[in-house]
Amino acid sequence: MATSNSTASASQIQSSISSTPFVAAEHMNDGKRHLLLAASGSVATIKLPNIAQALSRHPNLSIRILVTQSAEKFLIGQSAEQPHLESLQSIPNVDGIYRDEDEWTSPWTRGGGILHIELRRWADMLVIAPLSANTLAKVVVGLADNLLTSVVRAWDTTGLIDPVCGKKRIIVAPAMNTAMWRHPITKQQIRVLEEDWGVDGGQDGWYEVLRPMEKELACGDIGDGAMKDWREIVDIIEQRLNLSTSAPAS
Ligand SMILES: Cc1cc2nc3c(=O)[nH]c(=O)nc-3n(C[C@H](O)[C@H](O)[C@H](O)COP(=O)(O)O)c2cc1C
Repeated sequence: MATSNSTASASQIQSSISSTPFVAAEHMNDGKRHLLLAASGSVATIKLPNIAQALSRHPNLSIRILVTQSAEKFLIGQSAEQPHLESLQSIPNVDGIYRDEDEWTSPWTRGGGILHIELRRWADMLVIAPLSANTLAKVVVGLADNLLTSVVRAWDTTGLIDPVCGKKRIIVAPAMNTAMWRHPITKQQIRVLEEDWGVDGGQDGWYEVLRPMEKELACGDIGDGAMKDWREIVDIIEQRLNLSTSAPAS
């Protein structure tokens, strides 16, 4: 049963999402702020629909959603709060949904676009909420083995490559089991994002880390490691993108 549901979900998404190559230049003058909203494989991925829905009230915002293979498993329509990833396309402002497969929909030929570069060019900001322990580790050491980490690895850390004003920000909201969060390797990796590459690290960085909060986790453990409340994440996105918060809620 689970297998057939998953298969149906994957094929539905395949047939309805990103059938034409995405070219950033075609969208650069749309008068909107561009948010690349990503999720990696934490249970907190189930908050992704809430975040997208809350941001749908801004008429001058375009959202493209990007999920890792693990994140997608939390959104296959298993409950009301875990709809099919595909259904998020009906949320106003959601203009695209991308998975690893979309990088390779057709054989690349010279002159063709490269999705992770196009998404990087398009985005005014990348938000990874949630950021899994695995993806945290990968971005810190520079691995680029899926669509999300390829975007991160190709980010313009100089602020000189993309034709925009200044350096574009990556906001991450780590979410993991308390033991994972308290592991010494996590501390080292967060230090890199905050102090070496952070916007507040005094190094002209590009990362903003939204530290987790304490609560009872999905696994039953009580402690820190839970993703920051999604409403606070929405507030921060609105502030960083200068979105008016007086727009009527939909
Ligand atoms: C039910 C379930 C829940 C999980 N929750 C988390 C989590 O909250 N945080 C985390 O870092 N990993 C969590 N994991 C493990 C990740 O999904 C796993 O490390 C995966 O490789 C992450 O891949 P990604 O970083 O490419 O998304 C969970 C795994 C399962 C099966």
